[in-house]
Amino acid sequence: MKKSDPVTIVFFGASGDLAKRKLIPALFQLEQDDLLPKQTRIVGFARREKSHEQFRTEMEKAIIEFARSKPKIGSRELNAFTSLLYYHTGKYDNSKSFKDLKIFLDKLDEECGIPPGKGNRLFYLSTPPTVFCDIIAMLGQTEHIADHKDKNLWTRVIIEKPFGRDLKTARTLNKNILSVLDESQVYRIDHYLGKETVQNIMAFRFGNSIFEPLWDRRYISHVHITVAEAISVEGRSSYYDNTGALRDMVQNHMLQLLALVAMEPPASFAPNAVRNEKVKVLNAIPTIEVNEVDRHAVRGQYAAGTINGRSIPDYLREPGVKSNSVTETFVALKLHVDNWRWAGVPFYLRTGKALTKRLTEINIEFRQPPLALFRHAKSDEHKEIERMKPNVLSLRVQPNEGIRLSIGMKIPGPKMILQPTDMEFYYSKVFDVEPPKAYERLILDAISGDSTLFIRQDEVETAWTLIDSVLDGWADEKSPHIHLYRAGTLGPYAADEFITNDIKKLATF
Ligand code: BG6
Repeated sequence: MKKSDPVTIVFFGASGDLAKRKLIPALFQLEQDDLLPKQTRIVGFARREKSHEQFRTEMEKAIIEFARSKPKIGSRELNAFTSLLYYHTGKYDNSKSFKDLKIFLDKLDEECGIPPGKGNRLFYLSTPPTVFCDIIAMLGQTEHIADHKDKNLWTRVIIEKPFGRDLKTARTLNKNILSVLDESQVYRIDHYLGKETVQNIMAFRFGNSIFEPLWDRRYISHVHITVAEAISVEGRSSYYDNTGALRDMVQNHMLQLLALVAMEPPASFAPNAVRNEKVKVLNAIPTIEVNEVDRHAVRGQYAAGTINGRSIPDYLREPGVKSNSVTETFVALKLHVDNWRWAGVPFYLRTGKALTKRLTEINIEFRQPPLALFRHAKSDEHKEIERMKPNVLSLRVQPNEGIRLSIGMKIPGPKMILQPTDMEFYYSKVFDVEPPKAYERLILDAISGDSTLFIRQDEVETAWTLIDSVLDGWADEKSPHIHLYRAGTLGPYAADEFITNDIKKLATF
């Protein structure tokens, strides 16, 4: 990979969980793989007073705990990496903090022989969203942002989710950001796009000629996108109880998965070519009418149960959750993509916390053969034939990453009885390397100026338009109640019933 220009990376929210668990370990890994540009410096910015040394010691611990290739304490690699780290104490809405930061960054540049004002910057906003606008405004006011037209100098800003909590707040946020930055400098992150298996959706579709001719309403009956999690809210209730599964998972990760499955082949893999196609898909999804929401969505909330021997309390008894909360921890949603390719093909999205197990999978279910050739079989054979399963292509995003194609095969013997059989591919068996983590890939892309796997302004706003329509429906007092499900199960029975009944109504061929 081509090494990019030198850069100083500043991440705001340096004391937070994301920095410790994901960002610093990702940067450490990039350094190990010799992918960071020469003279990279990494500066953590947060409110708490801390020395550079204290920060380095804390991050060292985080690397030992969370890095992909766990290093030994005191190893040469670890020291080499932590010597790139610095810490700056400051307030997110205080211009002096940002002026001091500028002086400090210029000094770091100078040490590397870069003249003041000529250093590239990658700012990473991993703070609570309430301070996003303050930080951006301060960066603007204190002249941290290079002119985007300058070919020899760049400033890029990565913005974490949640990107607003509805269309209105997302628009305000975009307006504030774009009053300081050019869209080409903004990198709205969705870590699902950094997952190898998610990028492989595009490779699978557009790098092979076998499936693309079948990839439409003529051959595909419906699509399931499932993101199941076995974890509960686990200490994040102050965020989660104000958010819910629809905003937390569907607005971003799941609509991105849908867009990648449903998009047209882009003209190239240039950032805007890919993003244009994704936006077209999102725009083709009709918004759901307020009084129609119960025909498209089921929401659930977990009640006490057990997952792998671990007792989970009622969601309402989780510390920090309001005792009368109607926040959904599960959602099942039916969407259509009203375009030439997908008209009439439902996309069923399901996600939830405290479910049986962790599983992210996209199942593409093909239509049954047009003629049930074996329909004249008798008695017990007939039962087998009725049980004939359609072909299903499963793209397993995590865990046990891989691809499975289920096809009907004749069971050896005198009778014509078919059985679904799987053709499988697993990453772990085929490739002998551990794939990079999502954040490694995305930070590296931002350093090299590739925004293909980041979300554009129109994408985020279109996604919110869809989500708002469901939220408005749920806010309506006539909307059906939230369904309870036991932790450690597959979600509310009502969701299963809704999807199963809906599928029965689909034409088979
Ligand atoms: C985050 C959500 O964006 O994604 C979390 O805020 C969720 O609630 C997480 O647990 C899931 O990510 P992954 O990579 O573990 O599937």
